[in-house]
This record gives sequence, structure tokens and C-alpha cells, in this order.
Amino acid sequence: MKNCIRNVALLLLIVLLHSAPALAAPKFSFRLGHAVPEENAYHYGATKFAELVEAKTNGEVHIDVFPNNQLGTGERDLIEGLQLGTVDIYVGSTGPMGGFEKRFLLFDFPFLFRDKKHVYSVLDGEIGQHILSLLDAKGMRGLAWMENGFRNLTNVKRAVNGVEDVKGLKIRTMENKVHMAMWRTLGVDPTPMAWSEVFTALQQGTIDGQENPIPVIYTSKLYEVQKHLSLTRHVFSPAMIVVAKSVFDSLPEEYRTIFAEAAQEAALYEREVCDKMENEFIESLKQNGMEVTTPDLASFQEACKSVYEEFKGELDEDAGLLDQIIAMGKE
Ligand code: PAF
Repeated sequence: MKNCIRNVALLLLIVLLHSAPALAAPKFSFRLGHAVPEENAYHYGATKFAELVEAKTNGEVHIDVFPNNQLGTGERDLIEGLQLGTVDIYVGSTGPMGGFEKRFLLFDFPFLFRDKKHVYSVLDGEIGQHILSLLDAKGMRGLAWMENGFRNLTNVKRAVNGVEDVKGLKIRTMENKVHMAMWRTLGVDPTPMAWSEVFTALQQGTIDGQENPIPVIYTSKLYEVQKHLSLTRHVFSPAMIVVAKSVFDSLPEEYRTIFAEAAQEAALYEREVCDKMENEFIESLKQNGMEVTTPDLASFQEACKSVYEEFKGELDEDAGLLDQIIAMGKE
């Protein structure tokens, strides 16, 4: 009797295995690169995107995710890789994008965004879609807006409570001229540098500090080389999923739709993960020895006004969008 039951169970298993839908061998294989560790929200978003695409194409599209700058030295390098064909898909911030399409500088103006509700009313609306669409002319297809977060200052020298405390600090910035101008206006020596070099530069003392969202500061273990965290929230740093235009155009129409839908779903998931990390990791940074201050932001905002006058012209025919974004923040 026992044998009989075992044989029936075995038979059922064999039938089930044969009837399960098998994934097709991939017809397309792509390389996705990002600059941060696997613990960061970008990696959650990137792997979610890869999984969704693979599932929705029944395994015909396979995406390998390369974290930690494995495909480039930093985000500018990864974006160049999209144009050169060494990277197929980029997940990362808009920080260096102003060097490729200057109207991307729109989001780099200091203290432009009030909060995330304001951010996503802009990014998920007409302005965000318009800015993403500018990438087409640069050999890229912008698929969806993800999140890096509000940027905050860290340094090894002193607690920052007001604008006077940052004077004389040597701070790594992204390769972005609006960010650099902002810090220069505040009396800081801005030092643009690829992300892959920052930890060592902080460790060796060639720079005093850097600025990034909380999830980056924690997952990149900057508490090992930085003492002070100041919640300056000076710039909101959007992130994106971008695919090389040549790759996107090589896909059949139905897979292009799948890419767009999977990117949007993965981006919403990534935003949630990132937001949760932002809330939780301030405490974790304190537990790891960082001293956290909430500076008087009015003094920073007042000092940064000149940056708007200096760079508004760079946005050409899109300069009016700056006022629209400011107005949306008052709604
Ligand atoms: O500071 C940067 O370069 C970016 O914020 C980072 C850490 C690569 C994440 O996008």
C-alpha cells in the first residue's frame, strides 16, 4: 500500500514538472550598471526591473545587474557607457546628466523642492516627462523616475548648525556645475570627483566631507570616515532608469512596452524602499557614532539665491519651468 501511494505521488510530480511553463532561453541579454552597494535602494529597484522584464518576456530578455561601479568609475562614466555601448541600462542619479543635456540642470537648483509630494507632482507630471524625453536626442531612452533622495552634508571637521560653519570646508560634489556653484557661494571649496574615489579620499583626508542622501551615506558606510551629519536637504537628487537608445530600438514593439511598464513598477517600488531607508538610517548612523545636526536652513537658502540668477539662463527655452516648479511647491 505504502509503495502504491509513493508511486502515485512520484507520477503526479513528474506530470506537474512537465506541465510547468518553462522559461525560454534568452534571446536578448543586457548589462545594467549602477554605482552603489547592493544594500542601496537602487539595487532593489534594478533587480526588481530585471525580474519583471524577465518574467513578462517569458525569459526571452535577461538582464544582469552590476552594482558598485563594476561597469564604470562613477555615474558620468556609466552614462558615457550607454552612449559607447559598454552599458545597456543605467540606474542612477541625474547628477552628471546636466553635462550631457544641460536642461537636466533644472532639478539641481538648491532648495527647489519642498518635500517628496512636491517632487513627484513635478517628476510624474508633464515637466518630468518632458525632461526624460530630452534623452532621446542624446542616444538614450529615459524610462522612469526613481529616487536617490534629499542630499545632506557630512564632514569630519565640525558640527554644522548654520551657513557660517561650512566656510572653508573642502567638500566632494558630483560633477555638476550648479552644485559646485552653490557650495562656492557658501564659502566651500567644491571638489568634483567620481563616486568610486570618494571613500578613499575621505579616509586619506584629501577632502573633509561630501554630500549625499541618507541611504547612500549609510549603505556606503561613510560613518567609518565621517563624524558629522547635517540634515541640510539642500538638493533633491532624482534617479532614473535609462536604456541605451540603440538597445531600446533593437527590441520588438511589445518588449519596449514591457520595458516601460516594468521600469515604472520597479521605480515605484524603489521609491518606497528608499523612503523607508531615509527614515530608518538616521538612527543607524547615530548608533555608528555620527553626530547629527539640523541646521538653520533659512541662512543657507538666503545665501543660495544668487545661484538661480547665475544658472537660470542655462535652461534656455525651459527656464520658465523653474518658476512653474516653485509655484507647484506652494500649492
Ligand atoms: O554622489 C553621487 O555621486 C551619487 O549621489 C551616488 C552616490 C553615485 C548615487 O547616485
